[in-house]
Amino acid sequence: MKEFIDPNKVPKRKLYTGDYIPAIGMGTFGSDRYTAEQVAAAVAGAIEVGYRLFDCAAIYGNEEQIGQVFQNAFDKGIAKREEMFITTKVWNNMHGKGDVLLSCAKSLRDLRLDYVDLFFVHWPFRNYHAPGCSGDSRNPDSKPFSPDEYIETWRQCERLVEMGLTRFIGMSNMTIPKLEAVLPHCRIKPAAIEMELHPTFQQEELFNYCLERDILPIGYCPIGSPARPERDRTPEDIADLEVPEIVEIAKAHNVHPAIICLKWAVQRGQVPIPFSVREEQYVSNLKCTTEDPLTDEEMTIIKGLEKNNRLIKGQVFLWEGAKGWEDLWDLDGTITSMR
Ligand SMILES: NC(=O)c1ccc[n+]([C@@H]2O[C@H](COP(=O)([O-])OP(=O)(O)OC[C@H]3O[C@@H](n4cnc5c(N)ncnc54)[C@H](OP(=O)(O)O)[C@@H]3O)[C@@H](O)[C@H]2O)c1
Repeated sequence: MKEFIDPNKVPKRKLYTGDYIPAIGMGTFGSDRYTAEQVAAAVAGAIEVGYRLFDCAAIYGNEEQIGQVFQNAFDKGIAKREEMFITTKVWNNMHGKGDVLLSCAKSLRDLRLDYVDLFFVHWPFRNYHAPGCSGDSRNPDSKPFSPDEYIETWRQCERLVEMGLTRFIGMSNMTIPKLEAVLPHCRIKPAAIEMELHPTFQQEELFNYCLERDILPIGYCPIGSPARPERDRTPEDIADLEVPEIVEIAKAHNVHPAIICLKWAVQRGQVPIPFSVREEQYVSNLKCTTEDPLTDEEMTIIKGLEKNNRLIKGQVFLWEGAKGWEDLWDLDGTITSMR
């Protein structure tokens, strides 16, 4: 018999529209290590234990398998569609005119849904790379960020809302300069922005920028993505789970350090979307948001652990002539394409 965590006891966050989203969800990217079937089985288990938010994407290559799980859960009354909050994302090769609609239609068909709750632009580039390619591979057609192209893509996302195919739209992997360039042109404001967030990479400025504009930050890699693919690893990367302060706080609460990362995320105000195919892990990841919170002092200690430790650098999206992955993130405060 699986443990059940009452979804009503899991904290929630309010979107600017007044609608609610669970304060924690489950990621579905198998990191090239877990098969679509394994991820779908984890989603099935997670619905049973009380998860109601799932972060999907066309590029994860498992929406068809996850869709079967959703349909089964709705048919058997394990969860109702309206209780769920399901996201998906358009991949970089589907930004062109009309392609966003095609991408959304395919995701809806695969996920066996009439609508998704939140539809993201996965990356702010049209730059395509083949799934599973190595970190130093470059596509000669890749180009820097273009605000005009991004808005063309965003207009199509706005159409999806108007057509009732998604309730909300969101952005992902953005920076403040990119947001400054595109937000004034949005007819529908993003409800959420997905970004990398974990104790050693807190993106304080971007996080606050979103909160000030009533845009919800959704935090990916909340545990520091210990199982991420080889192409996303560099020797300088810091493992959040091994940071002594995190380990010590975990000992004080008698939990795994992963749980401390998640408690911190929820108490700080972002929505973490941890991934796991292991039942004991995904149960504890959800349950930890309902009990034994971190103290103010522990929250302050974790606030001090920022180390600018970006793990998902995105180097496969670089264009010819780019100096390095830093160019994707506008680190000097200006959009690279505008130099
Ligand atoms: N928008 C974007 O561009 C973007 C980018 C990256 C990720 N995402 C989303 O964010 C989700 C989460 O990111 P992620 O999967 O890279 O990283 P993560 O959630 O930080 O790390 C996942 C890994 O942590 C381990 N883990 C999970 N729960 C644990 C627990 N309770 N105790 C110990 N270890 C635990 C598991 O490792 P083992 O498998 O070794 O047990 C699991 O594979 C993705 O699945 C995806 O949905 C979005």
